Amino acid sequence: MIDVLPTPLPDNPLETLAAWLDHATLQALQPNPNAMTVATLDADGTPSIRVVLLKALVTDPGYLVFYSNYQSRKGQAIASNPQVACCLHWDALGLQVRVEGIAVRSPAEESDAYFASRDPASQLGAWGSDQSRPLASREALIAQTLARGRALGLPDTATLADVKPPGGALPRPPHWGGYRVWARAVELWVDGAARIHDRARWERPLTTGDDGLPHPGAWQAQRLQP
Ligand SMILES: Cc1cc2nc3c(=O)[nH]c(=O)nc-3n(C[C@H](O)[C@H](O)[C@H](O)COP(=O)(O)O)c2cc1C
Repeated sequence: MIDVLPTPLPDNPLETLAAWLDHATLQALQPNPNAMTVATLDADGTPSIRVVLLKALVTDPGYLVFYSNYQSRKGQAIASNPQVACCLHWDALGLQVRVEGIAVRSPAEESDAYFASRDPASQLGAWGSDQSRPLASREALIAQTLARGRALGLPDTATLADVKPPGGALPRPPHWGGYRVWARAVELWVDGAARIHDRARWERPLTTGDDGLPHPGAWQAQRLQP
């Protein structure tokens, strides 16, 4: 059980996030302890939010990785405004983590490696769905997915339950891959008695370098009233 945040506060809050994620995974109290909500802003400023799976956490230099379709609503939102906010909540553990930052596409090789690690049915699913676009019917989606699979070399007999690509794997669709969320602010929250929760916020400068990538400064921590 995690009762309070340490004093003094940790230098790097993402190391605490990593420890909490490990703890939640070991406790196995929910099917997806790495479920994370991600909020984005559409080009017209409309906010939207959805759950994704946190697939990697690099505590230093400090980014979170999730995978998605780059042409989805979130993908289009990030293309026009890379500012995102994420939240992980482990209800049974009384813990919440909030992260604000900038989403940048992962390097292609990293997305390739992750895609190759997925099972062939999930690989086919990434080809099959034009995520967030309208759809005539569920049958149309299945037919579209299997037709795209055949175009990639799957046998005519393939079904969604039986996906055996020639060579063992499908290539990564160019419109699908990772996002690294570079953290600019992190808040850790621990449930407390009488609603006197323990809460702290870390911030750091995040400037974009000549290479177009975020360059983080040092973390500064501050306890906040709950
Ligand atoms: C537990 C859970 C995990 C999910 N994981 C992902 C994910 O890793 N990537 C993803 O693109 N969508 C994931 N989804 C689906 C998204 O919530 C969302 O429906 C989809 O990405 C389309 O969002 P958009 O139209 O806002 O782009 C997940 C949904 C749930 C409930």
